[in-house]
Amino acid sequence: MKPLKIAIAGLGTVGVGVVKILENHKQMIADRTGRAIEIVAVSASNRGRDRGIDISGYDWSDNALDFAGRDDVEIVVELIGGSDGVAAALAQQSLSNGKSFVTANKALIAHHGTALAACAEENDVALRFEASVAGGIPIIKSIGEGLAANRINKVYGILNGTTNYMLTQMEATGKDYGEILEETKLLGYLEADPALDLDGIDAAHKLAILSSVAFGVKTSFDNVYMEGIRRIKLVDIEYARELGYRIKLLGISSLSKAGLEQRVHPCLVPKSAPIAIVDNGFNAVVVDGDPLERTFYEGRGAGEGPTASAVVADIIDIARGHRGPAFFVPVAAMTDAQPISISDRFGPYYIRLHVEEQPGVIADITAALRDEDVSLHVMLQKGSEQDGTVYVVMVTHETQELRVMNALDRIDALSSVIDKPLAIRIENL
Ligand SMILES: NC(=O)c1ccc[n+]([C@@H]2O[C@H](COP(=O)([O-])OP(=O)(O)OC[C@H]3O[C@@H](n4cnc5c(N)ncnc54)[C@H](OP(=O)(O)O)[C@@H]3O)[C@@H](O)[C@H]2O)c1
Repeated sequence: MKPLKIAIAGLGTVGVGVVKILENHKQMIADRTGRAIEIVAVSASNRGRDRGIDISGYDWSDNALDFAGRDDVEIVVELIGGSDGVAAALAQQSLSNGKSFVTANKALIAHHGTALAACAEENDVALRFEASVAGGIPIIKSIGEGLAANRINKVYGILNGTTNYMLTQMEATGKDYGEILEETKLLGYLEADPALDLDGIDAAHKLAILSSVAFGVKTSFDNVYMEGIRRIKLVDIEYARELGYRIKLLGISSLSKAGLEQRVHPCLVPKSAPIAIVDNGFNAVVVDGDPLERTFYEGRGAGEGPTASAVVADIIDIARGHRGPAFFVPVAAMTDAQPISISDRFGPYYIRLHVEEQPGVIADITAALRDEDVSLHVMLQKGSEQDGTVYVVMVTHETQELRVMNALDRIDALSSVIDKPLAIRIENL
């Protein structure tokens, strides 16, 4: 059989990893697919950059969009990044020109997944993006194929390794957020735009994709509620531990009669939950389906090897002739789910207040909570800080989010309250 010819746009961390796997495992892959896979062309920004691999045997293109027009190329592999610009143009043009398209680009799929899937269907080619969610964990294939007999109710997980690393390190070292942030920057773990990690945007991209794969809904990144880890202090991690929890940044998506809930935010999860012990750069995804119930997937969420492993698996899939719909249902069957507002979340909350230690403060705080019908399960207050202030931590009974936020607005307005109050949702997973 003729070799399958591919072109790779982007030779950074992931692109180099893909070239290495395809070259180093050439024969094994050919045996598994029944067809050799041949890289014919590559593109990156800077031709002269030393990438530690030999690319002299491939055609070089300064303009990655050339790949969409090459007659000999069957699959275009995009490893550049960004939701728009060259990545989006390359996707659109490649699919329109009858080329299958493989990418690790979560921003691209979160924003344009449904439209690109439609374009792939119209042109009878494949669109694949396994590496875009949870790096090396084959979660998209697991849900779309392995769990194909199940109605999925809920999918959630640790989808950003960098923030999971930071939270783990805060707990392990007893250092506060600022110090761990600086160390994480020095290690090079943060995205070029750190907001993608720290504000939950990267996790939200992945969650939007997971929602579409799990529920067959159109990708709707704009409806994902997002909150990152910037406000988590060491004191929260310590109090959480004392209360029997750990703090994790989770992406949670569920579909019910009420609609689609998609949210990314820090959570208190019971120490005994499987997800609570997923540490450092690891990702984990939990899928709850009927009839299988809960399954749990863990692995490395980023880095050259894990991410390239997922990209190459997609290429192999296409080489084997698999051309099914990108989200496992045809685009015409994908639905527009009604988004559920975060204000409607119902559950317990951890609340941390930093207040001046003076008579009447606690009475004012509890009055605000009482007026909103928020009842307390636990209240903790330890010794004062050196400056005469004190942290007060409370755990509420199950309640509606809107009520908690209204109460916190009132508490924030009290003159004795120093920092903006923090509420962290408790997820008894
Ligand atoms: N890194 C990970 O662990 C990981 C995990 C999951 C998903 N991803 C996704 O994988 C994609 C690639 O990530 P990465 O970490 O490999 O990024 P990266 O190391 O920054 O590499 C990006 C590559 O794109 C090239 N490039 C930039 N603009 C270009 C253009 N206009 N035309 C052609 N090439 C261009 C760069 O060229 P130069 O090298 O010449 O500058 C570089 O080789 C992104 O979508 C990312 O979100 C990454």
